[in-house]
Amino acid sequence: MTIRKIARLGEPILRKSASPVAPDALGQAWLQTLIDDMVETMRDADGAGLAAPQVYAPWQLCVIEVVDNPRYPNLSPIPLTVLINPRLTPLGSTHDVLLDEESVTMYEGCLSVPGLRGRVSRPREVRVQALRPDGTLMDERWSGVRAAIVQHEVDHLHGTLFIERADSATLCFTREYERYVPLAERVVDGRAGT
Ligand code: NI
Repeated sequence: MTIRKIARLGEPILRKSASPVAPDALGQAWLQTLIDDMVETMRDADGAGLAAPQVYAPWQLCVIEVVDNPRYPNLSPIPLTVLINPRLTPLGSTHDVLLDEESVTMYEGCLSVPGLRGRVSRPREVRVQALRPDGTLMDERWSGVRAAIVQHEVDHLHGTLFIERADSATLCFTREYERYVPLAERVVDGRAGT
């Protein structure tokens, strides 16, 4: 496995829409190598997720995992998940404005925007449809932080970064985030405890 270079803010590939992975690519060596390298790269960089365009691969593919992550010390573990050609559908009411109880709000970061955090609100529950590397179909409901992370990663597949979604007044550098953003405000699940 190889740790790949991560594209940083300003690289044109981060602004392009990724192409679907062809079904006949499943099981091919190049795709498995890419997946393995993405997992290795994500873990090495302490990321909670990584999308293929972030390693200069223009495919609709992302990986997600949270295990004792020093960049996100207060998150519950999320098992390693590989999503190919993912499609997300927000669940809940279809208001123009996201209701607090139907949102998850967290200070997101991104390996392609190193050193920066910003508060983003997203639907707290999404339907996740994707292909797994073995070709089986995933169709699940994810909620809370896991839902926020998968939305962040799938945004990458459409050329969108969290800084467009963030409340710009909350953007901050890592040092100031750790110093001034209280733990209780870093992740707020609108339906936590209900
Ligand atoms: Ni990112």
